[in-house]
Amino acid sequence: MPSVYIKTFGCQMNDYDSGKMRAQLAADGFTAAEEPGDADLVIVNTCSIREKPEQKLHSFLGTVLPQKKVRPVTVAIAGCVAQMAGKELYRKYPKVDLVFGPDAVHRIREMVEESKVRRVLDVDFFAEDTYPFPTDVDPDSSSVAGFVTIQKGCDNKCTFCIVPSTRGAEVSRPADEVVDEVRRLVDRGVTEITLIGQNVNSYGLKIISQGPGASLQPTFSELLRRVHEVPGLEVLRYTTSHPRDMGDDVVACYRELPKLADHLHLPVQSGSDRVLRRMKRYYTRAHYLDVVARLRAARPSLVLTTDVIVGFPGESDADFDETMTLLETVRFEGSFSFVYSPRPGTPALRLLDEAIPIGVANERLQRFQAVQRRIQLEAHRTLVGATLSVLADGPAAHDEGVVCGRTSGFKTVNFPGSEADRGRWVSVRVGAAYANTLRGERVG
Ligand code: SAH
Ligand code: SF4
Ligand code: F3S
Repeated sequence: MPSVYIKTFGCQMNDYDSGKMRAQLAADGFTAAEEPGDADLVIVNTCSIREKPEQKLHSFLGTVLPQKKVRPVTVAIAGCVAQMAGKELYRKYPKVDLVFGPDAVHRIREMVEESKVRRVLDVDFFAEDTYPFPTDVDPDSSSVAGFVTIQKGCDNKCTFCIVPSTRGAEVSRPADEVVDEVRRLVDRGVTEITLIGQNVNSYGLKIISQGPGASLQPTFSELLRRVHEVPGLEVLRYTTSHPRDMGDDVVACYRELPKLADHLHLPVQSGSDRVLRRMKRYYTRAHYLDVVARLRAARPSLVLTTDVIVGFPGESDADFDETMTLLETVRFEGSFSFVYSPRPGTPALRLLDEAIPIGVANERLQRFQAVQRRIQLEAHRTLVGATLSVLADGPAAHDEGVVCGRTSGFKTVNFPGSEADRGRWVSVRVGAAYANTLRGERVG
């Protein structure tokens, strides 16, 4: 039996694509290898969102390619760096057998066959209106939580972002296909589903891929309602949402759909209107705060997390202070924050004459993250003594006899348990609060 090892960098889109590749390769008899050193086929699924993740490709290849000298192994570069710089990579690494972008994932079996006779390079975008969303379910997804893609690409043009050029135009997946995949995952024991796309709120408003159900074109809130009805589903999440497109129909779902999770990731990027304008985010701080107020009115227990970019070109001290006050106002209970990283071909490169010195940017990032940690810790401390309903994910990685789980509000909770708890809802009384996790004892 041939075996495959897939190293995945980047976001849920890449995790999901890796799962689709595993599923399709399983049809050709491929099993999962534990280590790249054991595999007949090694795929590195890459991310180019910032410079750092992009560099990980090169260090990974540095460990894998030398193996070719001692044993036959096929090496493939997939994902966003392949899409962005496929031809260069193909030239730079003559020992790499395949280079292909996200739109070629559905062709993985053909490409692997083809690579037996010649090297393969496929970085073409697929025609949008016939874009085939692969339907196979990841054979290795033993987890209680599953992802289902509802959309590919992005039609926004945030000036810092490379995704529109690595993932192409925004295409919505037919609703019947989405619901069908949710059903199949739930049939396999998955109880928590996350619908994924770069801009889920505009689902159904752009190009719909052809296929059964294409004519129905539900909006995002209608799709949420359809998925919510799937019997056996217990928690419904989605990511990522754009604040500009968060309509009252989606807000109403927080009032009406009990399975919709108590958590929303709503990237804000900056608290300053001037910076938001230069990022071309098309919303203001006031709009963002209004969305938050409407969401909290609909679901007072909603936990909010966000993404922030620090040190965008031209960000003044006053602009950055606006991000800090926004953090204190909303009290996000988690965030991904990074220093701005210039990306090839993106519009913000034109602003680089106003680049923020890296020392200043790093200092701002540290200030932001320190306050973020404090707010998280304060929020978690209010939960000490409370009994939470926790969906057990499975044994904790480095903690014997401890199980790790998550609440609907996306809090990670560790408690005593075993493999047998996987997939169960357990009542846990919180005993200790840390910045990133909670710890407690089982009750009842
Ligand atoms: N579609 C999502 C975000 C996708 S990228 C949205 O619109 O919110 C994930 C995060 O990476 C972004 O929210 C942003 O905070 C960060 N990011 C993207 N490009 C970046 C860059 N050039 N430098 C630093 N961070 C970046
Ligand atoms: Fe990038 Fe903006 Fe699209 Fe998000 S919405 S993927 S940040 S262009
Ligand atoms: Fe990275 Fe591509 Fe996702 S650039 S963040 S893997 S869409």
